[in-house]
Amino acid sequence: MSPDLGHFRENYDRSELRRADLADDPVTQFGIWFDRWMEEPHYDAAACVIATASADGSPSARYVLCRQFDADGFVVYTNLESRKASDLRENPRAALVFGWLDQQRQVRIEGPASLLSAEESDAYWVTRPRGSQIGAWASGQSDVIADRSVLDRRAAEVTERFGADEEDGPIPRPDDWGGIRIGVDAAEFWQGRPDRLHDRFRYARDADDPSRWQIDRLAP
Ligand SMILES: Cc1cc2nc3c(=O)[nH]c(=O)nc-3n(C[C@H](O)[C@H](O)[C@H](O)COP(=O)(O)O)c2cc1C
Repeated sequence: MSPDLGHFRENYDRSELRRADLADDPVTQFGIWFDRWMEEPHYDAAACVIATASADGSPSARYVLCRQFDADGFVVYTNLESRKASDLRENPRAALVFGWLDQQRQVRIEGPASLLSAEESDAYWVTRPRGSQIGAWASGQSDVIADRSVLDRRAAEVTERFGADEEDGPIPRPDDWGGIRIGVDAAEFWQGRPDRLHDRFRYARDADDPSRWQIDRLAP
């Protein structure tokens, strides 16, 4: 039997979002909210959910870390043979959700997904800790494996091959690991308000001039 979850009720009264407060474009608005988010310490502050769908329309979603955002979109790094990457090859569109719940905020981003260039992925790869680099080589992400020892054995083999220390030289980026950029076709900013009368604003590209954004308030 399900535990009773009905009594978890927050009062959404911490802030409000008005049309006049919004930046003209969603990435600037995201930056304003992100700066506010970063004013307080958060566990895994860069975490967001990315949703993909396969060619037959089956959706799936999982957390990833957003490593960069700018006018070109939002960048995440992953294994390029994983389920998400295979979905994006079949159906190159994704949705991101940033759930900044203790600020009673949610941001939704939707748009086309594209692979970063090898040079861009390399530039991020070299900033990763050596242990994470070894982990990327050791894990065929989303493959079925027999047990934990498979992972530990592969990690030991990779460590043996490349060396455990920085003095052993740089570890090259695996071909099946890289960055994916989600461009922004649409975005929505949600601010919780009392009595479920939340503030929601959606940015969509203007049909006549895609460099401009139409902003609409949505009913909660
Ligand atoms: C907080 C958090 C952050 C994560 N960050 C990443 C990430 O940046 N890249 C990644 O590939 N997986 C990340 N994962 C693991 C994914 O959620 C997922 O298990 C993995 O990418 C395989 O997903 P897939 O089989 O649907 O492709 C993260 C998980 C959590 C909980």
